[in-house]
Amino acid sequence: MADTNLAVIILAAGEGTRMRSAKPKVLHELAGRPLIGHVLSAAESLEPAHVVLVVRHQRERVEAAARELLPQIEIAVQSDVPGTGSAAEAGLALLDDDFVGDVLITSGDVPLLDGDALDKFVSQHRASGAAASVLTAQYADPSGYGRIVRSAAGDIEAIVEHRDATDDQLLIDEVNSGTYVFQANDLRQSLTGIGTDNAQNEKYLTDAIADLVAQGRPVSAQIIDDPVLVEGVNDRVQLSALATELNHRILAKWQRAGVTIQDTASTWIDVTVELGQDVTLLPGTLLQGTTVVQDEATIGPDTTLVDTEVGFGAEVVRTHALSARIGEHANVGPFAYLRPGTVLGADGKIGTFVETKNVTIGQGAKLPHLSYAGDAEIGEGSNIGAGTIFANYDGVHKHRSVVGPQVRTGAHNVFVAPVHIGAGVYSGAGTIIRKDVPAGALAITKAPQVNNEGWVIEHRAGSVSAEAAEAQHNTAEQ
Ligand code: UD1
Ligand code: MG
Repeated sequence: MADTNLAVIILAAGEGTRMRSAKPKVLHELAGRPLIGHVLSAAESLEPAHVVLVVRHQRERVEAAARELLPQIEIAVQSDVPGTGSAAEAGLALLDDDFVGDVLITSGDVPLLDGDALDKFVSQHRASGAAASVLTAQYADPSGYGRIVRSAAGDIEAIVEHRDATDDQLLIDEVNSGTYVFQANDLRQSLTGIGTDNAQNEKYLTDAIADLVAQGRPVSAQIIDDPVLVEGVNDRVQLSALATELNHRILAKWQRAGVTIQDTASTWIDVTVELGQDVTLLPGTLLQGTTVVQDEATIGPDTTLVDTEVGFGAEVVRTHALSARIGEHANVGPFAYLRPGTVLGADGKIGTFVETKNVTIGQGAKLPHLSYAGDAEIGEGSNIGAGTIFANYDGVHKHRSVVGPQVRTGAHNVFVAPVHIGAGVYSGAGTIIRKDVPAGALAITKAPQVNNEGWVIEHRAGSVSAEAAEAQHNTAEQ
């Protein structure tokens, strides 16, 4: 249900220097989405009145990616003043002055904090009656994070950054997650008074908490039960650690939903993938993008499927597939490469060392060995001989070929597109089909075979082949 009293501000203007990357930090990916994609999807699930993204560093790239992920995103640009407080100020400025609701602030670099956790945090804040709330976590190793300083009575007093902390404060294991709820007007007021007198010479959003406390306003700190959710990505070590963590959570979700996963260490599934019941995933399987696998299909080992649909009970072994559709009970691989536009019918087969692109293969049709099929249609029940090439490219244009139903072609054929092969056609081995073949015909390329008797013995005298040939002649003469 829409929450008209809520605005979400996502901070993503920082440089992310510790990533050492030409790419903005929030565009680095895990589980098939950039960091910012996870945060936007969590924010969107709250159905707030506004989702504001604060950008600055490489703003065009971040803005473009965010708009693609969430078209209704509102973009604010941070001023020259560095720091999360300055970023929050820019986000707030984008909201109308008459927006007086709750402002949920979170970071673009905390990707595991999902909609459920944010929803719980906002609800608890509203139930607490506090002026502001900060979401905290307890870590065995809190280094790098801002520490939550509490009074003897346990009330939050301030948040102190690692670099500004005293030795005693560094021992505090409760850290700031970088996620807060403020009342819009309180935050507007607190931020105007905050300076940059700290180790980083930045305007810290965390100082707004200390400001409210100084005003005698109640501030609540809520400790999250699942601290991994608020871990931030500051460098690539943390990125891969969180990617692994998120992947294990995704795998566990599918295992509980009835998917068999033999090796959780080598299986990677994007958040956007859908799997049916009794699907089996063998080691080395990567399922990416909008891939959907129906019930009882088996994928792997060593298979990557991107934006690919796999039908009921199909088997896909050691395959790389991009934007392909594999029909029910079909068989693919081992060692197949399915490129975009490949559609394999039910019970069909794309076999070993076969590459396909933009091809529709009918029900029960087979392309079993060492072939390339591009820009073509292969009719129901047809069998394409080993080593066949659909020659679809004339050097300038691509052309389409059509093979009718129940065709049987010999080994090592070339179909020079555009060509139409009628229903039930047979072709001989090594046939080069350059013109249409009518239904029921046998197509054959007759280049007469010439045997030059004795050629090897004469022209390669003394070679192993010549000796073998002589030996056979001698045996035959005896
Ligand atoms: C911040 C918090 C720290 C907390 C940690 C949690 C402050 C001062 N510190 O530290 O208490 O434990 O997050 O992960 O807030 N950003 C901007 N503009 C800036 C600087 C940062 O938009 O000028 C954005 C970044 O893009 C990022 C987020 O704010 O998404 C956090 O910035 P980062 O530099 O990672 O802050 P931390 O040092 O991690
Ligand atoms: Mg950070």
